[in-house]
Amino acid sequence: MVQATERLAILGFGEASYEIARGLHAAGLPGTHIWKRQPWSATVLSRAREAGATLCADPCETVKGADIVFSLVTPTAAPEVAERAACGLAGKYYLDLNAASLRTKEQAAEIVETAGGLFVDGAIMGPLKRQQHRVSTLVSGPEAAKLAATLRSWEMDVRAIGTRIGLASTVKMIRSVYTKGLEALVLEFMVAANHYGATEEVLDSLEEILRIGPFLLPFRQMVAELILEQAPHGARRVAEMEQVVRTLEEIGIEPLIARATLARLQWGVSEVRLKEHFADGSPESYQQVLDVIEQTALQPAQ
Ligand SMILES: NC(=O)c1ccc[n+]([C@@H]2O[C@H](COP(=O)([O-])OP(=O)(O)OC[C@H]3O[C@@H](n4cnc5c(N)ncnc54)[C@H](OP(=O)(O)O)[C@@H]3O)[C@@H](O)[C@H]2O)c1
Repeated sequence: MVQATERLAILGFGEASYEIARGLHAAGLPGTHIWKRQPWSATVLSRAREAGATLCADPCETVKGADIVFSLVTPTAAPEVAERAACGLAGKYYLDLNAASLRTKEQAAEIVETAGGLFVDGAIMGPLKRQQHRVSTLVSGPEAAKLAATLRSWEMDVRAIGTRIGLASTVKMIRSVYTKGLEALVLEFMVAANHYGATEEVLDSLEEILRIGPFLLPFRQMVAELILEQAPHGARRVAEMEQVVRTLEEIGIEPLIARATLARLQWGVSEVRLKEHFADGSPESYQQVLDVIEQTALQPAQ
C-alpha cells in the first residue's frame, strides 16, 4: 500500500482523471481533491465516491491544500485551467498530463511558473483503462526527476526523460505520426481493396511481402533500412506511387494517404535531393540521411 505524505489535487474529472484517481485510491493514496465544472451528475458523484475523492467547485481552492497537482482536462483547455488554478499553485508540483502540442505545454508552463508552481510536462503512453495509475507515463522538465521519484512511490510507472519542457508530450505526438499513421494507412488500403472487391487477394499479397524484405526485422533495423532505401531508390518509389495514386482515383477512392506518401517521397527526391548527396555510394547509417535532411531542408529545431 502507498504510504504518502503528499496530497494530490486533480483539475478535471473525465475518463483519465477518474481512472487515475480510483487507481491511486485503491492503492491507498488518501484525500484526493478534484475540481470539476458543475453541474455534477449522479454518475460524477458516484465516480468521485469510488475514487475516494472530494469534489470541489473552485479550481484555486482545490489545489490550495495539495502538494502535487495533475491537470487532466482537454488539451486546448490546459492553459486556461492552469490560469484558473494559478492563485493556489505557489511551491507545488504541477503535472500537465494533457496530450497537447509543444506550444500549448509552454503556455501552461509559463502560467504555472509565473504563479510560483513547478511545472512538469507529462505524457500518458499506455492504456489507462487497463492500467489506471500504473499506466506508463513520461515526464520532462527541470523538476521532472524529483516528481517522478515521488510518483513512483505511489506505484505510478513514471519515467523522467529530460529537463526540457515539451519533450515528454512531443515524444508522444511524434509516436502518433507512426501509430495513427499506420491506422489511417490500413484504413485506406482496406477501403480501396474492398471497393475493388479484392480484399483477400491484397491481404494474401501483403502477408507474403511482410514476411520478407525489411518488415520482419527488429523494429530499429526496419526503420534504418526504410530510411536508407530513400537515397538510392527514392525516384523509383515516386514513379510507382504516382501510379498508385492514379489507380485509387480510377477505382473511385480519394487517395488521401497515398497522395501524402507520394508527397513525402517526392520531397526526399527533389527537395532534399538525397540521391545527389550520396552519389558516391549508399549512406551507411540512417543518421547520415537524417543529418542531410536536417541541414538542407529544415529550419533549426526550437
Ligand atoms: N482518456 C485517455 O485514455 C487519455 C490517455 C492519454 C491522455 N489523456 C489526456 O487526458 C486529458 C483528459 O482526457 P479525458 O479522456 O479524461 O477527457 P474527457 O473524458 O473528455 O474529460 C475532460 C475533462 O476536462 C474538463 N474540461 C474540459 N474543458 C474544460 C475547461 N475549459 N475548463 C474546465 N474543465 C474543462 C471536462 O469538464 P466537464 O466534464 O465539465 O466538461 C472533463 O472533466 C486529455 O488532455 C487527454 O489528452 C487521456
